[in-house]
Amino acid sequence: MGGSWSWQLTCALLLLFSAVVTATDHIVGANRGWNPGFNYTLWANNHTFYVGDLISFRYQKNQYNVFEVNQTGYDNCTTEGAVGNWSSGKDFIPLNKAKRYYFICGNGQCFSGMKVSVVVHPLPPPPTSAVAAQHSSPKSASPVLLKRGFRSLLVSTVSACFGIVWIYHL
Ligand SMILES: *[C@@H]1O[C@H](CO)[C@@H](O)[C@H](O)[C@H]1NC(C)=O
Ligand SMILES: *[C@@H]1O[C@H](CO)[C@@H](O)[C@H](O)[C@H]1NC(C)=O
Ligand SMILES: *[C@@H]1O[C@H](CO)[C@@H](O)[C@H](O)[C@H]1NC(C)=O
Ligand SMILES: *[C@@H]1O[C@H](CO)[C@@H](O)[C@H](O)[C@H]1NC(C)=O
Ligand SMILES: *[C@@H]1O[C@H](CO)[C@@H](O)[C@H](O)[C@H]1NC(C)=O
Repeated sequence: MGGSWSWQLTCALLLLFSAVVTATDHIVGANRGWNPGFNYTLWANNHTFYVGDLISFRYQKNQYNVFEVNQTGYDNCTTEGAVGNWSSGKDFIPLNKAKRYYFICGNGQCFSGMKVSVVVHPLPPPPTSAVAAQHSSPKSASPVLLKRGFRSLLVSTVSACFGIVWIYHL
């Protein structure tokens, strides 16, 4: 039975490690933060978002805020039916689903460009495909591909880990 606990500890540490290593925090607007007069579409086009990543908004507290809305809210700058709202000035929002997310500022500044929409991609397929792709065309092996491979490797390690814990509990 002692073995079960050490496995659980190992898995907990592994999970923590994988979360730290793989969850990218996408800071909206980079060093410009969340402010009016910035084209966040250009910012979003420059990033690739995966399930489990974070998007974070940094701004002057009490001046701006963040609402998660649907496409209508995004297009029309309305917060009606908002799914969530944040106002800490340093908001970390987990992107837990593979879908398009819409965020706007809820105090009217949405009309001044404080709106951003991001597409979150599912976690990539097993690492074998990434490895194969690198072997067939070394020149096209991009950091994205490597990152994808690394992530799925971690995902499979973590799944295997859970499988082991499960067996121990039988
Ligand atoms: C942001 O840039 C994109 C791509 O150039 C453009 O299509 C869009 O109209 C711009 N948005 C604003 C609010 O200027
Ligand atoms: C896109 O990313 C590149 C590389 O990080 C950076 O140099 C460039 O300024 C970025 N463009 C925008 C619009 O954020
Ligand atoms: C969005 O706003 C436009 C113009 O104000 C309006 O015509 C349209 O009906 C609105 N769309 C929705 C879905 O409310
Ligand atoms: C967005 O939410 C509003 C309010 O709940 C709703 O009227 C509208 O139809 C929704 N739009 C979409 C595209 O789901
Ligand atoms: C913000 O979210 C909280 C729940 O997290 C909700 O009670 C509140 O009504 C929301 N505020 C607005 C303005 O939608």
